[in-house]
Amino acid sequence: MRAHLAHLASLGVDALWLSPIHPSPNVDWGYDVADYREVHSDYGTLADYDALVAEARGHGIEVWLDLVPNHTSDKHAWFTERPEYYVWSDDVPNDWKSVFTGGSAWEYDADRKRYYLHQFAPQQPDLDWWNPDVRDEFDGILRFWFDRGVRGLRIDVAHGLIKDRELRDGDEYLRLRPEVHDIYARWQEVAAEYDPKPVLMGETYMNDLDELRPYWQHLDLAQNFPFANAEFTLSELRPIVEWTMAELPRDRQACWFASNHDHSRMATRWAHGNIDKHKAGLFLLLTLPGTAILYQGDEIGLEDGPVPADRILDLATPSRDYERTPMPWTRDGREWQDPWLPLTDTSRNVEDQEDDPNSILNWTRHLIQERKTFSDDTYATDESTNQWVWAYRRGDKTCVINMTAARRLWNGRVLLPWECLIL
Ligand code: NOJ
Repeated sequence: MRAHLAHLASLGVDALWLSPIHPSPNVDWGYDVADYREVHSDYGTLADYDALVAEARGHGIEVWLDLVPNHTSDKHAWFTERPEYYVWSDDVPNDWKSVFTGGSAWEYDADRKRYYLHQFAPQQPDLDWWNPDVRDEFDGILRFWFDRGVRGLRIDVAHGLIKDRELRDGDEYLRLRPEVHDIYARWQEVAAEYDPKPVLMGETYMNDLDELRPYWQHLDLAQNFPFANAEFTLSELRPIVEWTMAELPRDRQACWFASNHDHSRMATRWAHGNIDKHKAGLFLLLTLPGTAILYQGDEIGLEDGPVPADRILDLATPSRDYERTPMPWTRDGREWQDPWLPLTDTSRNVEDQEDDPNSILNWTRHLIQERKTFSDDTYATDESTNQWVWAYRRGDKTCVINMTAARRLWNGRVLLPWECLIL
């Protein structure tokens, strides 16, 4: 990671969010944490982590970590020593289902002769956020990493930490509980002990935009999943952007992304491999107001990789490994030795794109520079928008995207397929 900080700096990136770096049996790629205050030996040591933070800061980049507070690994010492930290029941109390198995979210523990809750895999028991000791533990974990220079946290399953106290039937009692906001209010108090205050960004996974609103109370950033999950069409995306910009409280920013380690990459899902369409996707992502998150590889148009069935590691169906393949830094892949998943198609790689002025990489660089010149954080759909061309004002500039694969007439000019302009 340290060897590639210069690449991120040359893009103009301000922060680097790492998916979990902690010791973990890797049943769910680090999202089954066995020790929140250590670094997985595959990645190095706490000293290596400190060096990463210092070196990144030298490049003007802050390191953000991924906090997994909904569940731990069943190999975490708490699961043996502090069973009261988890959610238990004498029998299967309700119809809640595991995201990964599709079966009951309750697993029988033969030793304790009780069932424990696992919203995800059975090896990922859910913590009981009604227990004040769990809250105290996490205050300590936050301070541990903030003391070590972490300037932001991406909060895993931010919508699902706390469950209905009475364990009632129905998904609405498993997720999106209103009591979760008290936890974030408290974390903001912890964060406020630091200067600058670290950013709290939620994985606020929901399909309905209305459900996002309460998360803006105490999270600095709430990731916009309806945007990421939409088709790349004007008719789907425009209402999402307009709703978000209209509803955002004044002291909050929008948070956009189009790929991550759980979602097919934007170069595949949005652009189907088409370079111009992918460039238009990047343009939208990077010219909207707020925070934009690029997933590694978006900046070169990396597509989902064709991982052979015998190399699949992910426990989820459909597998998320296609979007988790390594980053092609070079065409011959010489930088990788035995990576976790095979390095697949390297035709889009950093080395080749570096010197090509028309490459996706240089387009990304250009857009990140441009976004820094927008005079304010407002968005307004321009009245020149028609059914094919999306035009929106950002301060004194107008962004224009031909959202179709055909030439279109806009304001007396002809736009090429997927052409984008800042005027
Ligand atoms: C969301 C993470 O992004 C995903 O990778 C993980 O499997 C689940 N949360 C469970 O932690």
